[in-house]
Amino acid sequence: MIRTLGVLISGRGSNLQAIVDAIAAGTLDARVGVVISNRPEAGGLERARRAGIEALCLSHRDYASREEYDRALVAALRQRGVGLVCLAGFMRLLSPVFIEAFPNAILNIHPSLLPAFPGLEAQHQAWAHGVKLAGATVHLVNRDLDAGPIVLQRAVPVLDDDTPERLAERILEQEHRLYPEAIGLVLSGGWTIEGRRFILRNPAIG
Ligand code: GRF
Repeated sequence: MIRTLGVLISGRGSNLQAIVDAIAAGTLDARVGVVISNRPEAGGLERARRAGIEALCLSHRDYASREEYDRALVAALRQRGVGLVCLAGFMRLLSPVFIEAFPNAILNIHPSLLPAFPGLEAQHQAWAHGVKLAGATVHLVNRDLDAGPIVLQRAVPVLDDDTPERLAERILEQEHRLYPEAIGLVLSGGWTIEGRRFILRNPAIG
């Protein structure tokens, strides 16, 4: 798989930073070709510029439909030779136009142990439900929200005296480790999808 990443953000971009840091540290063999935000005020744009990465704002408000916006995103990513799209706090639903342009080449990180607590404020949902294990998931993106094949997950215990904010902070720490690791796995190419299962191939068995 082509090792040029396109990272899509809407906000502070701490996961983007974790990816940039892992590349700089040599633990992730990739390059970020472009960072795109749908919001001009996203803090992640500044992080990208500081790292010498092209930072682009494409506002969804400038497009008549979701499909039109997605076509513009796809064109921008293709122009920069992106092989793997990494959603990192990108607060937009993707249309089939986007998903079909990058088959099995879009990753998302979600702050829960999916399929539990999809959607918004997953950490708060987990806390309010009273689960004892929360966590984070990196998954391939398909047409269903937060439901594509799971690449990696990490559990985070919920403590009795947790607040949703403290829990979210500990989950975020794990996200920052998990995302670069999952990207490395996907780029390695040694995997297949069986049903909805992401399976690592063992090269020794072929
Ligand atoms: C993270 O919690 C991620 O799991 C979710 O959105 C948040 C983005 O945070 N999809 P950041 O912008 O990477 O700091």
